Parts: sequence; C-alpha cells; structure tokens
Amino acid sequence: MPGRFFLTTPIYYVNDAPHLGTAYSTVNGDALARWHRLIGDETWLLTGTDEHGLKNARAAEQQGLTPQEWVDRTSSRYVDSWAALEVSNDDFIRTTEPRHHLSVQRFMQAIHDNGYMHKGLYEGWYCVSCEAYYPEPDLIEGRLCPVHERPVEWLTEENWFFELSRFEQPLLEWYDGHPDAIFPDSRRNEALGIIKGGLQDISITRTSIDWGVRVPWDEAHVFYVWYDALVNYITAIGYGEDENRFSKWWPAVHHLLGKDIIRFHCVWWPAMCLAAGVEPPAHYIVHGWLLVSGEKMSKTRLNQIDPVDLGAVIGVDALRYHLVREVALGADGDFTYEGLVARYNSDLANNLGNLLARVATVVGSKCGGIGPAPRPAAPGVRLSEIAAEVIAECRDAWARFAGHEALEATWRLVHAANAELEATEPWKLPAGPQADAALGDALEALRIVAMLISPVMPGAAGELWSRIGLTGHPDEPGAAGEHGSLEWGVYPGGLTVVKGAALFPRRTSES
Ligand code: MSP
Repeated sequence: MPGRFFLTTPIYYVNDAPHLGTAYSTVNGDALARWHRLIGDETWLLTGTDEHGLKNARAAEQQGLTPQEWVDRTSSRYVDSWAALEVSNDDFIRTTEPRHHLSVQRFMQAIHDNGYMHKGLYEGWYCVSCEAYYPEPDLIEGRLCPVHERPVEWLTEENWFFELSRFEQPLLEWYDGHPDAIFPDSRRNEALGIIKGGLQDISITRTSIDWGVRVPWDEAHVFYVWYDALVNYITAIGYGEDENRFSKWWPAVHHLLGKDIIRFHCVWWPAMCLAAGVEPPAHYIVHGWLLVSGEKMSKTRLNQIDPVDLGAVIGVDALRYHLVREVALGADGDFTYEGLVARYNSDLANNLGNLLARVATVVGSKCGGIGPAPRPAAPGVRLSEIAAEVIAECRDAWARFAGHEALEATWRLVHAANAELEATEPWKLPAGPQADAALGDALEALRIVAMLISPVMPGAAGELWSRIGLTGHPDEPGAAGEHGSLEWGVYPGGLTVVKGAALFPRRTSES
C-alpha cells in the first residue's frame, strides 16, 4: 500500500560553501526520498539554508555587504550545488523568507502564551561557529569549542529564556511511548542521556544583534538562530497557515541529521513542540560523519572538498553511489579519493558497465540488435529467482534506512547476471531460442537493476533504461508505462538495444 514519506535534511549555514560533508546528508536524504517515490509513496523532500546568526552578520560586514545581500549570494551556492548533484528536493526553504518569519513568530508566541518563557540575564561561553553556548566543563582546556577546537567568547545579555527544564519528564515520557523515534539505537541512548543528565532553561533571544527573526512581544530582541532554524521544518508544510497541509505531513516526518546536532533536534526541538502545543516529530535518522584523514570536514578545518568539482571528475552518479554505498547510514566513514576510484572501477565499470556492454554486444551479433523477451519467472530460471530475492531485500533495506545494503543486494543480481552469461555463453550458441532465453533474462535483470539503482544514480539508471530500448525513466512508473514494475517478467522484448560508449569508463586515481 503506497504511503507518505516526508523527509527533511538539516538546513545548512550559508557561511560555509557546500562541501562533501553537507553533500553526504543531502544525497543520502535524496536517495531515500527517490526510493519512496519509486515505490509509489507520496513523497516530500525538504532542504534549505539557515541564514541568520552572528556568523552571517559578521561575514557580511567583512565583505562590505548587508546581511541580506550576503545570504542571497551564499544561499544560491546550495541551490546550484544540489541541482548539479541531481537532488530532487520538493521545496528549498530559506530562513530569511517572510513565510518563515511569520511561522517562527506564531510558534514562539504560542510557547510564550503557554507560559514557558521568562526574561533573565545570560552569561556564558559562546562559539560563533556553532552559534551555541557551552557549559565550561564541555570546553577543551577550559577555552576551546569541543567541535571546532577554537577559542569561545564570553557573552553577557539580558534575554528571554525557554523553560526547557520543565520538559525533562515530558520528554522522557514521550520517548518511552515512542521507542523507535531515533535511528540508530545508540543515538537514542545519547539523546536520553542528555535529557537524564538534567536540562537547564535556555536563552532563546538576543539583543546583541538584529540579524534574525524579531520577537513579537519584545521588539528589542531577535530569536537565537538555532531556535528559528528548527522551526523551518513546520514552516515549509504550512504551520499556522494551512491546517490541512500541515496535518497531512506532520508529525509523520523523518528528520535526517548528522550526529553533531542531536541535542538541538532530539531534545530542544521536541520540547519546543510540546511547549507550543504541537506534536513532536515522529522520527529522526542520525548519520555519522564523513571524515578526511580522520577529521570532520568543515570550512574551519580547511579540508573541504567541493562535491560539484568532484562530481565533474568522477561523474555525479558515481559520487552519489559512493556516498550511499561506502558507509552504513549512522556510522562514520573515512573519505579517500583512492577508495572512490577503486569502488567505481570494481562495481560500476567492471561489473555493471561490463554487463550492459556484453549483453548489448551479443544482442547485436545474435539477435540483430533487437532484445528478446525474458523467460517467465519459474523455479530454475536462476535470474528470476535471484531478482525476486534481491527486490525483497532492497525493499527491506531501504525501509531500515540502509541504502548501502540495498546497493549491495542489487549487485548480487549484477554478479548473478554476469555469472549466468559466463555459464551459458550465448556468444557461442547459434542464434535461436537458447541464446534468446539467456539474453532476454539478462535484459530483464538489467531493467530491474536500472530501477533499483535509480534512487542513487538517476542519470545512469536513465541511460541504462534507454540503452535496452525502454522509453521514459525507470523511476517514473507513469512515464515508463507498464515497464516500470519491480517484478520479474516485464521487459517486453522486440526493443532496439544500443551498446553505445562505456556507461562507466574506467578511471585511474590520477585523473
Ligand atoms: N544550520 C545548522 C542546522 C540547522 S537544522 C534546523 C547546521 N548547519 S551546518 O551547515 O553546519 O550543517 C550541518 C549538517 O551538515 C550536519 O548535521 C550534517 O548533517 C552535515 N555535515 C556537515 N559536515 C559533515 C561531515 N563531515 N560529514 C557528514 N555530515 C556532515 O548545523
């Protein structure tokens, strides 16, 4: 039964250019969303940019621009990069948009009116890169931010506090009633650990800057950037504006985020929702870090890799494949260019690319270039049996947010199709039913593979689809007509198969 799938990525700080770390989140989110569209779920993928806060105000000043001019420029880098990486977001939210300001004010006013805010004095150690205060014991050597390892600043302000301390018990109860709310389990324990460790009220507004969303009941203040940012998830689906749309998508959301922002998402945000009278988000998918030589990638560490440049060198599909295939969502993974090229050559060039080239060559020599139909699914028709297993494994893996396992399973079908060809050697058979059966089965395996890889490699999937003579696109069942079905026996035969240039030309580490 088709369902609904609403997935959000974090909204990214615009002072950083898109890098491989942020591309990791976005591409993995996109692959999940594309899978759900493929299986017929009504799907909504949301991403965007987080544009307020001290960092942007300072960066704009350094550039001699107004903050708005600065964020207009920098936000578009994300729009352009995600388009170049074939990200299929349905909306792109910017926190400087009027729709967001209105929504934040509405949401915060509800928290205020429900009696969960008070005014007080705040002093503390603040990391401008994180846009967050840190308790002294969390600092490295008492003076460095634990994330950026750079000096923190002492700030003193009078501001509004959100009474987070009142939500320890309600949050624990909520998590008790929602045991699967955080994936993976280890991150659930981390969030529960933070809550059980005791929650302090948090300062939620600033008077020291005015680049932010104005506090509606006290105009000298703007909301602290993190508070305004989290609200984007409900702004985008019409909170307070379009009740039908909002209740259609909320609270059944999946928030995808990196492990660095668990406290904000899994503790603050659900508490804010409870305080505002909104049901907390149903689900969080917490992924690990992509590391370069063991370190998290970020601008402040100067080890950024531009994902669009890398995509131009290795191919966008190949880069996306690597980002989903290499590490399980949830774990950390080290990124190396050599690793990327090695996997590209073995999985894409040698296995999948070679399978297509082989099948197309022999269809050319034995069938006059016209692809034969597969045999019906039956015990003993090896590829039909393996395809059925692989399709079931893929469904199960994606449902567990394990895209890497879905790809691993898909490659079992690729390997099996290559092995079947080696066993039957259709190139040695006379033209006729035996050669047709072997080639028809291989073409059907390729059709299924095209569909199964389409969430991760939409471009290559489309190319594979058209090379075996199908029209439309493998992830648009409507456009693909009756051929877009995830089961054995759909490839009709009688279509022109084109060999063409190598789908994935071999690469060397030097290229
Ligand atoms: N603006 C906040 C998020 C607000 S969401 C309401 C923020 N932005 S960020 O630009 O720093 O991006 C954070 C997210 O980017 C991380 O949570 C993670 O999803 C992703 N990544 C940034 N660097 C990363 C790696 N090196 N590896 C994997 N993901 C990384 O925090």
